This record gives sequence, C-alpha cells and structure tokens, in this order.
Amino acid sequence: MIFPCSRSLFLLGLFAGSLARESAWNGHTPAGSRTPTAFTPYYVAPGAKSYDSSSPFVHYSGKWTDSYSSSYVGNSLKSTTCAKASVSFTFTGTGIEWFGNTDKRHGIAHVFVDGHFVDKVDVYGSVARKQQRIFWNFGLPYGKHTIKIVNSGDRNRRATGTVLDLDAFVVTKGSEPTVYPLDHGRPKSVNTIPSSRPMGQNLVESVPTQNVPQWTLSQQGTTGVHAMQLAIISPSHALIMDKVEHNPLTIDGHPAWGALYNLNTHAVKPLHVQSNSFCAGGTFLGNGTMINVGGNPVVQDNTAAADFGDVDGLQAVRILEPCDAEDVDGCDIYENHDRIRIASPRWYNTVLRISDGSAMIIGGAKKGGWMNNDTTNNPTIEYFPPKNIAGSNGMAIDSPFLKDTLNSNLFPIAFSLPDGKVFVAANRDAMIYDWQSNTERRLPQIPNGVRVTYPMTGTALLLPLSPDNNYTPEIMLCGGSSVDDTKPSWEISSQDAASSHCSRMVLNDDGINAGWQVEQMPEARIMPDAVLLPTGDIVVINGGSTGISGYGNVRDQSRTARRQRWSRTGMDNAQSSIPRLYHSVATLTPNGDVMIAGSNPNLDRSEVKYGTEYRVEWLKPPYMGAERPVISNAPAKMDFGESIQLQVKLPASASQGNIKVSLMDLGYVTHAVHANSRLVYLVASLSDDKQTLTVTGPPSGNVYPPGPGWIYIVADGVPSVGVKILVGNGQSPPVDDGALEKWVRFLLEYYWAQRLMVVLYSLLKNSDVDQYEESKGKKEDDGSE
Ligand SMILES: *[C@@H]1O[C@H](CO)[C@@H](O)[C@H](O)[C@H]1NC(C)=O
Ligand SMILES: *[C@@H]1O[C@H](CO)[C@@H](O)[C@H](O)[C@H]1NC(C)=O
Repeated sequence: MIFPCSRSLFLLGLFAGSLARESAWNGHTPAGSRTPTAFTPYYVAPGAKSYDSSSPFVHYSGKWTDSYSSSYVGNSLKSTTCAKASVSFTFTGTGIEWFGNTDKRHGIAHVFVDGHFVDKVDVYGSVARKQQRIFWNFGLPYGKHTIKIVNSGDRNRRATGTVLDLDAFVVTKGSEPTVYPLDHGRPKSVNTIPSSRPMGQNLVESVPTQNVPQWTLSQQGTTGVHAMQLAIISPSHALIMDKVEHNPLTIDGHPAWGALYNLNTHAVKPLHVQSNSFCAGGTFLGNGTMINVGGNPVVQDNTAAADFGDVDGLQAVRILEPCDAEDVDGCDIYENHDRIRIASPRWYNTVLRISDGSAMIIGGAKKGGWMNNDTTNNPTIEYFPPKNIAGSNGMAIDSPFLKDTLNSNLFPIAFSLPDGKVFVAANRDAMIYDWQSNTERRLPQIPNGVRVTYPMTGTALLLPLSPDNNYTPEIMLCGGSSVDDTKPSWEISSQDAASSHCSRMVLNDDGINAGWQVEQMPEARIMPDAVLLPTGDIVVINGGSTGISGYGNVRDQSRTARRQRWSRTGMDNAQSSIPRLYHSVATLTPNGDVMIAGSNPNLDRSEVKYGTEYRVEWLKPPYMGAERPVISNAPAKMDFGESIQLQVKLPASASQGNIKVSLMDLGYVTHAVHANSRLVYLVASLSDDKQTLTVTGPPSGNVYPPGPGWIYIVADGVPSVGVKILVGNGQSPPVDDGALEKWVRFLLEYYWAQRLMVVLYSLLKNSDVDQYEESKGKKEDDGSE
C-alpha cells in the first residue's frame, strides 16, 4: 500500500487491529494484573523529561499528519511517508530517546545529532507495537544538542511502506560536569605505601614532578543496560549484568538486563535473561564456562512500574558457555530453572572459583532486603557442581563464620589461596576456610572496628603471587566503614565518614602472628574498586567518601562523590566528572586499560542527581602510550607445570632481566567484590634471538584455580596486550560421587545420560527452601530492596 505524500490520510485504524493479535511477551500491565497487555518501552525516568510530538519545541519539515489515540503518548502521533520529510528538536542534556510505532509499513530513517549523521534506523517491525524506543543515545557530553530525523524514503524488502513517525522525545538532562580542583585532597604529608611484593611498585604516593607520563581518562560508549556486574569474557567482549529495570536496550520488546559489550566497537548486544539477576555473583569454571548465581525475587512495586515477566532469581544459575568469537553470534545466557538451580536462595552471595575449578557459593541473604539480619541470613556455603562435604550430599553447608559476622556481612570477600584453602572476610572478621575438611581458622579481627562488607563495603585484593617467595599470599582490604551495623537505617547518615584504612596481612604463620598492618589511603572510600594492573600496580577508583553503600535507606542523601586515586602522580588529566557510586564497576581489559562503568543508587532507572549511569570511561595508564611488547602467537591452553612457547616482539632494550610474565584472572566484578581477581608471575626464559619466550604454567590449581586467564608480558614496566589462555586441562569441574550416591535411584528412574543432570535434579528434589517453585504459580510481591 502506498501513501502518496500529497494525501493527508492516516494510519490510526491500521495500527489498532494488529495489536490484539500480537502475543504480548509474558508481561502483565499494570502490576498484579493477570490480563496480558503489550508492553510499551516508553518510560520517563525520574528526572528525565518527555516532549510530546505536538510540543512547540519539536519542528517538522515536509508533509506530516496527525493521528490521535489514547494509546499514544499525549494522545497524539505525527507521521510521514515522504522521503526527505524531517523532524528536529533541540534540547539540553546528555541523552535523547525517540519513541514511536513500529510495524510492517515502517521504513528507514537517518538520524543526525548536531548535524552529524549518527545512525540509520530500520523502523520495520513484523508485529505492530506502539510507544517503542526507536533510537537512543545516552553518551552525549552535557550541553545543547539537536537531533534531526529524516525519512530516507527507503525500506527493507519485507516492509510494505516508508512510514516514519514520532510519538515523543525523552531528554536525559544528566549532570553538569563538576570540575574538582586538581590539588583537591592532595595530602600535604606524603603517605608512602611500601610494597613488599616481589614486583609491584604499587600504591606509592609521591609528589608530582614535571614530565611525568600522564594517565588519561576518556568517555566512550554506553552500556545499554546498567553495569551492576562486569566481567571480561573474550578478547573483544565484556559481559554486563544488571537487575530487572527500565534499561534503554531492549530484547523481544522489553528492557534487557544483560548485554555483551564490544570493547573495540562499543556496540552492545542484549542477552536473554529470564530471572531477576539483581545482586547475583559470578565466576568462570575450570572449563571456561561462566556462571552467574543468585539474585532477587520478582519485584513489582519498587523496581518495575509494570511486571516485566521475569522469574525469581534467588536460586538461579545463569550459564554463559565460552564465547570467544568477535561476532558473539549464538552467545546467550542459558537458564533452565526446572533442572539447574542452587540449593538455597541467595541474594548478595559471593561466587568464587576454587582449586578444582568448581564454584564455591558463599553466604548471602534468603531474600532481598538491606542490612542482613538473623532472619534473612543464609549462613551457608554450597558448590556448583554440587559436592558432598561433611555429609552435605550436595546441599548447603552451615558456616558458623557467616552466623558470627552479622549484620554487615553480605557479599563476603573471598580469595582462593595458594594452598587451596579460601580466605574469607565479612564485616570486621576474617578466616581461612579449608573447604575440603569444612574447617575454619579464624584470623585476627580487622583493626579499628572497620567493617568491609555490604553495606559497609570496602574492596579487597589478593596481592600478586610470585615464585620468588614461593607464592606467599598477602591480602589487602581497603575502605569500608566503622559505622555501627546494629543501628537502624534512619540513624545512619549518608554523611557518616567512610574508612580511609587499608589493612594488609601476609597469610602465613609469621604474617598472621604479626597481624594486620594498617595504612592510610589519602582519602576515605566506601564501595571503591581496586584493579590490579599487569605491572603489579593497583588502581583504586570509584566510590563515595561518606555514607554507606546502598539505596535511599539513609538520611541526608547528598553523598560526596569524588574520584581520586591513591597514587596521583601523572593523574592530573584523569579526574572524572562522572560520579561512580553504588553499583559502579571497573575492570582491567585485555588491552591493558581500565574500563569503568555503572553507578545506580536507584530502585529503577532514574535521571535525577546520581542517576543511572550508562556512560563508559576508559582509564589509560601511561604505558598505553609507550612502545609495547607484543605476543604474536600463543597456544590456547596451558596445563599446570607445562612449558609453552610464546612468539614475541620485544622492544630493543628488552632482556631476560627486565621481562616479567603476568598470568591474570580479570575477575567478576560487582559491589566492589573482584571475585577471582588474581595475578601470578610465571617463570619464563627468553630465547637468544628474543623472539620466543618459554613460559611455565603455574605449579597447580591451588596457585591458579583452573580456568580462563590472560597472559601479559611486561617489558620494563610496559605490558603487552593480554592473550586469553585456558589454564589447566580444560575439563569440566568434578562431579562428586558422594553427592550422587543418595540419588542413584534417579538414574534408574530417568534415562539421563549425564551424571551431572542427575545430581542437579536430585539437588532440586532435596532443596528444603525453594523460592522459585513457590513463586512460579503466584508472583509474590516482595517489594523490598
Ligand atoms: C531483617 O531484614 C528484613 C529485610 O530487610 C526485614 O524485613 C526484617 O524486618 C529484619 N528483621 C529484623 C529482626 O530486623
Ligand atoms: C563446563 O562445566 C559445566 C558444569 O559441569 C557445564 O554446565 C558446562 O556445559 C561445561 N562447559 C563446557 C564448555 O564443557
């Protein structure tokens, strides 16, 4: 059907009929309603502003027609079928969204921002939908911008017309940049943090000098879904996970809450996530598969204005199989709650890869809330795949430590140690946990009453492990708060100071006897991120300087948001104006720079002060500008103790003496927990022609838990781009025959070939608490955050 540009006929009737036929994805609107209704992505986040198609600020050129319906924003819509007809709109802010209809009759539009062509948008849709987000850009610098949308007159082969329409524009005002004085907070007295590490020159606070190589910070790309959780999965992609909320990136006509972010092109691909992944944890397993575990129930009154059709995530295991190709085709999250889920509900659990390549799932709460307490606490540990330890038969194992550390003990800090045991810190306490024998060795309490886990969140790292001192582990805890965790939220102020302490302890007998060594950061930080660089240096970024992490639970909501770094030498150009508070993340990339994203102290997407942040920043250490060594060829796998050869191109000055090889786990980052973050120096020898580096794999899964890693060669303090390598034999983590024993009858009953499936199935049968089953029939209104 063709609509000549001279006729002012329009489309109202044409759209109405198809809406009823369209099977709405499983949403129910409004909350609680059982009648399926088409979900409409149109959403004005608090603080954002909507401009209807009839607004006097919106200017049209060419032939446009009005349509009226109560299902349009502001009851009206403007359409054109004419090539070159355009609409333009000038606004002040950092983001713009264009909403309108999509259906078979829609053609292709060209979008210009500030006079530059930015996108070609095909508005064709096989089913008719209204109030769709057709274009969005949240990455604009704060200021005045003009969006212009032009009807190209083109359409794809399936389309039956060249309709272009506008229902509304939504403007994200964003924050005006605040420039912090460069010398703000720079301490007069110099705090030197001596590094006892074999290699790192980490954390040295020194006086800036002229000609110091500069760090730079630049903003590029937007995450599409808010970046609450971040993990590098391949040379080209990062996984981003959020909770169920009104993100601009959509999938199947509803907001996405998981995405793959292309580190090279900054493109985002939405993922299918079925269950609410709010405050889940994650890890890679020994065979390279990633799992994301736990979450939140379906929330209807706080997070979502409408029911998004998600399912309870408290016992979820979301699986991402290895996905290394740059096109990420076919990569998606797999969930099957009927067959694969954990034994007990967990919100704010920590997930850690241990020495046999399995995941240890630690603590959390049985339901969403805020501060943990005796009622909500899940003081247990379980494994994926399940294990039979101390008669647990695959079920959760009691942890006295997690009982003793209430209330501020969510997202426990955990690191796998080079003897295979696990360091755990929660609240003011720490222990070494021998998971094989289920025994706890309590460590001295963290000094000065500092609490380090949610909501008094600090950050932690296992410092680099080196063969030079036989992989002696040293742990570092930074930031947090000493606010009383038994006080009700209304007595805790967002102006209560965070902690500026970093406590370090060497985890051998001498080190434990010597106790925690306390050092001062130049600034107090709550919810900071500590990122290990291939050089052994540590960057501490993000967080606030007062308050505690979380939502609007405390009074005086004006948090101080300041981003400064411990070692500021050469960082004058690297001050950000984007506050990164609760739910912000940072990770090292394969390239060697630091990706910084997120910040969302809100129940749902919001654009008020400290709104939901989608912009990504890239912190580039000075070495990014230097001549860098190159790994030109490397095997895909490296077993323990195995010697492999790397083909390298080194700067002329390189010699055996100034080359280091760093094997790194870039971790799974959320809530300041950098689970699995690790740097192990490898023994290496350089050939005479300097083109081959023979590298020996770590001695065992204790030193580096089997699983994916990244090898960087560092020549004179300048690292190469990292190459991905699977460490260990690449096999799937062991399935525990003990956990299987009780369930042999299921083998007879069901002809499942895979033993694992049987264990998982039995686990489900045996689960005493099963939130998912409970919520499957009735969407319960939890509402708590
Ligand atoms: C424990 O926390 C939950 C969730 O935040 C809350 O509903 C409950 O009232 C708390 N119980 C106690 C005893 O404080
Ligand atoms: C890795 O192991 C897990 C758990 O056994 C399994 O679900 C996954 O499919 C395995 N991945 C590969 C690539 O074999």
